Amino acid sequence: MAIEPIGKSLNFLQEVIFMSTKVVIGAQWGDEGKGKIIDILASESDVVVRSSGGNNAGHTVEADGVQYKLHLIPSGILNPKTLCLVGNGVVVDPKVILSEIDTLISRGIDVSNLKIDARCHMILPYHITLDALSEASRGKSDIGTTKCGIGPCYMEKAERSGIRMHEFVDEKIFRERFKTNLEAKNLLIERVYGGEPLKYEDYVEEYVECAKRLKPYMADCTVLLYNAIKEGKKVLFEGAQGTLLDLDLGTYPYVTSSHPVSGGVCIGAGVGPTLIDECIGVVKSYTTRVGKGPFPTELLDEMGDLIRNRGNEFGTTTGRPRRTGWFDAIIVKFAVRTSGLNSIAVNKMDTLSDIPTLKICVGYKLDGEVITELPYSLDLLAKCEPVYEELEGWEGDISGCTSYDELPENAKKYIARIEELCDVRVSMVGVGPNRTQNLVR
Ligand code: GDP
Ligand code: IMO
Ligand code: MG
Repeated sequence: MAIEPIGKSLNFLQEVIFMSTKVVIGAQWGDEGKGKIIDILASESDVVVRSSGGNNAGHTVEADGVQYKLHLIPSGILNPKTLCLVGNGVVVDPKVILSEIDTLISRGIDVSNLKIDARCHMILPYHITLDALSEASRGKSDIGTTKCGIGPCYMEKAERSGIRMHEFVDEKIFRERFKTNLEAKNLLIERVYGGEPLKYEDYVEEYVECAKRLKPYMADCTVLLYNAIKEGKKVLFEGAQGTLLDLDLGTYPYVTSSHPVSGGVCIGAGVGPTLIDECIGVVKSYTTRVGKGPFPTELLDEMGDLIRNRGNEFGTTTGRPRRTGWFDAIIVKFAVRTSGLNSIAVNKMDTLSDIPTLKICVGYKLDGEVITELPYSLDLLAKCEPVYEELEGWEGDISGCTSYDELPENAKKYIARIEELCDVRVSMVGVGPNRTQNLVR
């Protein structure tokens, strides 16, 4: 079959010879430094796409000494030429995205390249109220959600009564749908949870105003994305949350309500799997988790505090202290397998400097046996004891290293061991929060 230039054939997939579409996902429990990696890769990308989650995500990007905290807007926004798409799988809190837009504009960032898919479901005040009430009703078994209304919004979407962006921006439809949904949710709020019902009049005008402001950003992102890929443009899919927070594959029920694994991108951005040609995972050189749920390598001692303080492990979205622990090769290997990762970026190597002995979890002891795959049930995981391998640490500040070769030998050995244990190549190593502090191998 003759190869024709991209974009000329009827079905370009039969002919295509070049694509550059990369997925970047979190390979632990979130906060791996995805924002930094996306910002770096965005400088050579034409399009950056978010496809799951909502403003439960908090992605930090540091550029030219200035720090940006992004929750809904793709981390490619700092690059003026990059088209930034919020895919259909994202749940959008209109007030949050508008405040993010305003903050960026006030800091001189151009947001005219931002588009939000018309199919996105909107997070409305009753979702936030229900998130808080349902967490409170779980008592000690609460999930530790970000209380952004994520779970209730995805529940409503699955229940097929959610309000999508195209309905939100249609004032007449929105007023009607909002009223109906609010009445239904008030029943839950009052009768199930014993909470205070929300008054339609207290919210509707404010949200109608939000809708007017957001309307110009609405688009069919699936079309923009397909055409961009067809034209051979470089596309980056920005993961949110992390593999172990995946609704199906994560540590259920201590998970979020979306699909942070690479496969989630297909549905959340409306793109077929044949159109994705590379998947990169992002990890930290140790492990963190916010919220509740099992965490086999958690350090509840001084070492845990040291890593938390040195690594500034406090949530970007909620400010909560993050739980900290040693690097767990079992969970990263699980992410490599479930997302088909081609390589990983290991961030925060600088945080581990000057710790004489480092530990990596290489297996779990379960009922007297050592297993090396993540158990599928929480009960089994709770019984697992980490099996550690010790590695010699390195001394001195490595945050000024500008090439991989400059890293101390023991840091290189640590990376090499991660590669072996997780069965994946390490393509980037982070030695600081700035976009320049990334060593490409
Ligand atoms: P995300 O949710 O995956 O984008 O990650 P967050 O932004 O929530 O958390 C990662 C934190 O680590 C941010 O404060 C980043 O600025 C910071 N960070 C990223 N890479 C590195 C690194 O290599 N070294 C250090 N010290 N900090 C980093
Ligand atoms: P980024 O993209 C870390 C966690 C919450 C909680 C659980 C469910 O910054 O890596 P939710 O509000 O989603 O219903 O909470 O998921 N969680 C995250 N943890 N990073 C995130 O995003 C997270 N998004 C959700 O802490 O345990
Ligand atoms: Mg984060």
